[in-house]
Amino acid sequence: MSAFVTLPAATSHSLLGLKKKNTLFSYNNRNFKRDSRSWNFLQMSSSASSVDDVPDMGKRMFLNYVLLGGASLPILTMLGSYAYFFYPASRGGAGSGTIARDVLGREIKKKEFLETRKPGTHELAQGPKGDPYYLIVDEEGQLASYGLNAVCTHLGCVVPWNAGQNKFICPCHGSQYDRTGKVVRGPAPLSLALAHVDEDDDGNILFKDWKETDFRTGTNPWWK
Ligand code: FES
Repeated sequence: MSAFVTLPAATSHSLLGLKKKNTLFSYNNRNFKRDSRSWNFLQMSSSASSVDDVPDMGKRMFLNYVLLGGASLPILTMLGSYAYFFYPASRGGAGSGTIARDVLGREIKKKEFLETRKPGTHELAQGPKGDPYYLIVDEEGQLASYGLNAVCTHLGCVVPWNAGQNKFICPCHGSQYDRTGKVVRGPAPLSLALAHVDEDDDGNILFKDWKETDFRTGTNPWWK
């Protein structure tokens, strides 16, 4: 068998066509290379001007820190205020109680309070969880050992003391409580909540949780 194969005419034409195509490709390739060089040149000029425009890394980091610091301060302030709102107004650790405060938020000193109040006084003070609590001066001029949460157990109105009738009368729906806060007329379903009243080392009046039996009803405290 011969080692040479005679190609048909069509194949020769095809090869000629391929040659032509190759010639065209070479031409295009040259153009492409020339265009690529132009493109690279353009890219280099473009990157040279971009590099000049962009601030260096140190400046960018500095600006980032300035922006971060500027934004974080007001955000932290807002978050802190929001969290403080839920923090109970008390001093010391668990079980230390809540200092009674007057309408202006000042701590109430027991000695001063008793010197300036008459026997039979029922006066509102700010107590645990910011609730209004009654401080009571008994007939002997002593501070009662319990305070009364002034929030009505019906729908939450603040119940005023009525000295003429010697009881608390709710202005919203007429519930009544005796002088110890025990409910004597509805629609309020429960007596006023109790708190212990004490004095801290600085002479401030202190409210403490009442977890024992309710002395007015002999039942467990409903507010515990
Ligand atoms: S809220 Fe006091 S009686 Fe209704």
